[in-house]
Amino acid sequence: EKGGYDYFMLKEIAEQPQAIADTLLGRLSDRGEIVLDEVRLTDQDLRDIDKVFIVACGTAYHAGMVAKYAIEHWVRIPCEVELASEFRYRDPILDRSTLVIAISQSGETMDTLMAVRHAKEQKARVLAICNTNGSTIPRESDAVLYTHGGPEIAVASTKAFLTQLVATYLIGLHLAQIRGVMYADEVAAVVEKLRSTPDALRELLNSMEDVRALARDLKTASTVLFIGRHVGFPVALEGALKLKELAYMHAEGFAAGELKHGPIALIDEGTPVVCVVPSPAGRGVMRDKVVSNIQEVRARGARTIVIAEEGDEDVRAYADHLIPVPHTPTLLAPLMTTVPLQILACEIAAARGHDVDQPRNLAKSVTVE
Ligand code: F6R
Repeated sequence: EKGGYDYFMLKEIAEQPQAIADTLLGRLSDRGEIVLDEVRLTDQDLRDIDKVFIVACGTAYHAGMVAKYAIEHWVRIPCEVELASEFRYRDPILDRSTLVIAISQSGETMDTLMAVRHAKEQKARVLAICNTNGSTIPRESDAVLYTHGGPEIAVASTKAFLTQLVATYLIGLHLAQIRGVMYADEVAAVVEKLRSTPDALRELLNSMEDVRALARDLKTASTVLFIGRHVGFPVALEGALKLKELAYMHAEGFAAGELKHGPIALIDEGTPVVCVVPSPAGRGVMRDKVVSNIQEVRARGARTIVIAEEGDEDVRAYADHLIPVPHTPTLLAPLMTTVPLQILACEIAAARGHDVDQPRNLAKSVTVE
């Protein structure tokens, strides 16, 4: 049933191109417009929204962090992302014109469900992004957009994460389209890029041998740090979370710009630092800033593992280990840059002799607060 893979996790990582394609299926018209049938909110409801809150836990929260960048950039309305376990205790300001997006693979996470109930009591509109048909969170929401990732068996979330990203991109583009913020041809251009990600991802998955070798090398590290900027920041957090939960190693993710405000003191001779580099196309400024952060950590002895776009040859000089990923527009890049980090965590855990699919102390769905 593992389809020839040693672990469900590896199988699910390999299924990601198909999971993305399935999540896009039927959601795009021939003219490249977004069609979201299961969204039982009228276009007028969605036009009336003046604020978005995303609530989620763990990996789904990281998807929400990426979504914030995309939604604010495309839709031009404020979008906050919050840990579901914190949301209602903060007494957030919600009303009819607030859209709360709850992201949950299982649809049963108690913290996220409680955030949904709180939002509904305050009259906010609630839209669920969920991978499990008929689960509690979509049932209690005003609308649902299902990710068609198929069942995720491994405790650590992989394909659910990428499909959650796709779902939030679709929602962002849909909102931008009906609110008239983006022209149809601009939406169609992004959609075209989304449609090409499964092929790009297949190509990436075929070039992961080096990452496996690297994993064997890193298995005795006492800590691994991850840095990124913009959408690369949540990717760094996700890479660190995967390593903690699977390999039981100390790992931390940082916004690259925060390093000099404290965490750089952690860098010692040989400390592995995984650096997620933005595309040199588009926002080249951001890429250059990350490259200078890489130089800073390297000057202090870090061993740098650099995830950068194919063809970005200049970063090679600062990389002790380079992991090239196919080109994608900046906002879609997490669909590529996350994948080597999933494999790295999985292979390090396996090299340390852990049960990759069933890490200690964890359950697939967390139904207590
Ligand atoms: C990490 C992981 C967890 C879940 C989190 C939310 O690999 O799987 O962090 O992402 O417990 O679960 P769902 O998405 O089911 O609400």
